[in-house]
Amino acid sequence: MSGLVIDGIASLVTNDPGSGRGPLGVVEDAALVVQDGRVAWAGPRTRLPEGAGGERYDAGGRAVIPGFVDSHAHLVFAGDRAPEFEARMSGRPYTAGGIRTTVAATREASDDALRANVRRLVAEALRSGTTTIECKSGYGLTVADEARSLRVAGEHTSEVTYLGAHVVPPEFAGDSDAYAELVAGAMLDACAPHARWIDVFCDRGAFDGDQTRAILTAGRQRGLVPRVHAGQLGPGPGVRIAVELGAASADHLTHLSDADVEALAGGGTVATLLPGAEFSTRSPYPDARRLIDAGATVALAADCNPGSSYTTSIPFCVALAVRDMRMTPDEAVWSATMGGARALRRSDVGHLAPGARADIVLLDAPSHVHLSYRPGVPLVARVWKDGRPVA
Ligand code: NIG
Ligand code: FE
Repeated sequence: MSGLVIDGIASLVTNDPGSGRGPLGVVEDAALVVQDGRVAWAGPRTRLPEGAGGERYDAGGRAVIPGFVDSHAHLVFAGDRAPEFEARMSGRPYTAGGIRTTVAATREASDDALRANVRRLVAEALRSGTTTIECKSGYGLTVADEARSLRVAGEHTSEVTYLGAHVVPPEFAGDSDAYAELVAGAMLDACAPHARWIDVFCDRGAFDGDQTRAILTAGRQRGLVPRVHAGQLGPGPGVRIAVELGAASADHLTHLSDADVEALAGGGTVATLLPGAEFSTRSPYPDARRLIDAGATVALAADCNPGSSYTTSIPFCVALAVRDMRMTPDEAVWSATMGGARALRRSDVGHLAPGARADIVLLDAPSHVHLSYRPGVPLVARVWKDGRPVA
């Protein structure tokens, strides 16, 4: 594969503190060299290695950042829930129950319809700068429908998460333990070969602490790494269980106890915040400041799903995190790139140091600060994935 030299970069976020200013490793008046889909060199353009060959691209005095790493998405579904959103905006609260509406539509849908939906949303995410995206099952909730959801997800991303424990489906109403046993038994057997991660919605109206622990432990025995939906609708044991089981991340964290903050600060579990969900459910935002100040690793993700957060836009989430969660513009950009990579335990994405995947976003702006300074404006001008232009 031939090389690429991106020149004329006003401000380059490398997320490599060794090669530039601050934790974001910002280099001004920069250039970037790509070879065989990987970053070969990044630095001040005055030091561009001689003989760096290949196609030249002039960034025209604009900013370049790493592609966003969205570590939390629910893309395998059919239909939408606009009426539920409308009712919510007239005062009805968000509950886990709405998930069942999407489960019914998803079970009815053909494989091709599900495939088309994932393809549409992955392409939409790419246009707003997301070059790595995780994708969960969770709207099938039968052995066959969860397995096919994971197969469809796997056609579009390698970050596939088994979320059979999203809610208790109607045919198990009143017997959530029997459903939890299925999730940790026959359903896991069918799903484990198609997934890298296992997730449980541990919350009011979904699964309790004992069920969560049993399901995640069974998943771990099958080689899946846990992640947990924790503290979205109310306080609960989700964070504690996530940390105890070595989960890669605990997600949502709208309701956090002091002990939860302490556990996240000390452990290897990333705190993943999803401000699109608070925005679209009119809920209070999670306390990012408290987590960061305590020393936790914070990721930002879009949580795209048809119920609580029907957006794929990480720039929108970055703006919310800065405006409403007291994150600085630098912190929010870091959390949406490196933070997401940490949550997915990936060292090849989320940064632009030599050796990293050449997943690159050019902004129609002089610096990454404009992502939160200019909310709602489509600032993503061009996206390269593995060194190839894709959007
Ligand atoms: O992450 N919390 C659980 N799952 C989704 C919502 C799913 C839905 O409402 O369809 C979330 O917000
Ligand atoms: Fe979610």
